[in-house]
Amino acid sequence: MSGKEELKKAAGVRAVDFVRTGMLVGLGTGSTAEFAIEELSKRIKDGRLSDISCVPSSERTKDFAQTLGLDLVELGSQRKIDVTIDGADEIDPDFNLIKGGGGALLREKVLAQNSQRNVIVADESKLSKRLGSSFPLPVEVFEFAIEAEKGYLESLGGKVRLRLARDGSPFLTDQGNFIIDWSFGEMDDPSSVADCLSERAGIVEHGLFIGTASDIIIGSALGVKHLVPG
Ligand code: A5P
Repeated sequence: MSGKEELKKAAGVRAVDFVRTGMLVGLGTGSTAEFAIEELSKRIKDGRLSDISCVPSSERTKDFAQTLGLDLVELGSQRKIDVTIDGADEIDPDFNLIKGGGGALLREKVLAQNSQRNVIVADESKLSKRLGSSFPLPVEVFEFAIEAEKGYLESLGGKVRLRLARDGSPFLTDQGNFIIDWSFGEMDDPSSVADCLSERAGIVEHGLFIGTASDIIIGSALGVKHLVPG
């Protein structure tokens, strides 16, 4: 395992300390979240945790969790998720996030909005002074509106690119929508960017997660750090 993978794993493993017996757990998407999911399964198998149900944030995570034998349930109306453990693509000092590198931003945001606690796991390379400095913002758009929303994003600045799958065809989200990766550049005010995008009917969701993270667990060369909003 590379050094970076070790840092991701350390963050993922630590995040499972937030899970208690009897909890409903939201499972994020991505390689760092998968380290947490593996650890969760391990603690259930060795008896440290029991009576755990999980809501996956993507088909990829669902498949992964199923192979580990985790109990998966649908998101219901009666019970909030106790803890969601999810990754991020970029994290700013105000705990705002860019997510959606794995294309799962819509379901991830639904989980985040329905969780008591949102624990973000990442290696230290994800920390940045300003969102947009290292990662384009994923914007989920439905087919009818692709060209119109590309034009809208370009009118705000930066460059747009339709995300492609490995075979060169357009990447499709779990909802059958498309992703436009928008390289806007550094954002002075991510909240106002989020507001602009939320107003657009053709944009299903965007990867700016403003104020949803309650805890950030960073795997760093100096050890695992637990950050909480100040
Ligand atoms: C998935 O859609 C994203 O929001 C992920 O959480 C993100 O891409 C993190 O992935 P890694 O943990 O593999 O970097």
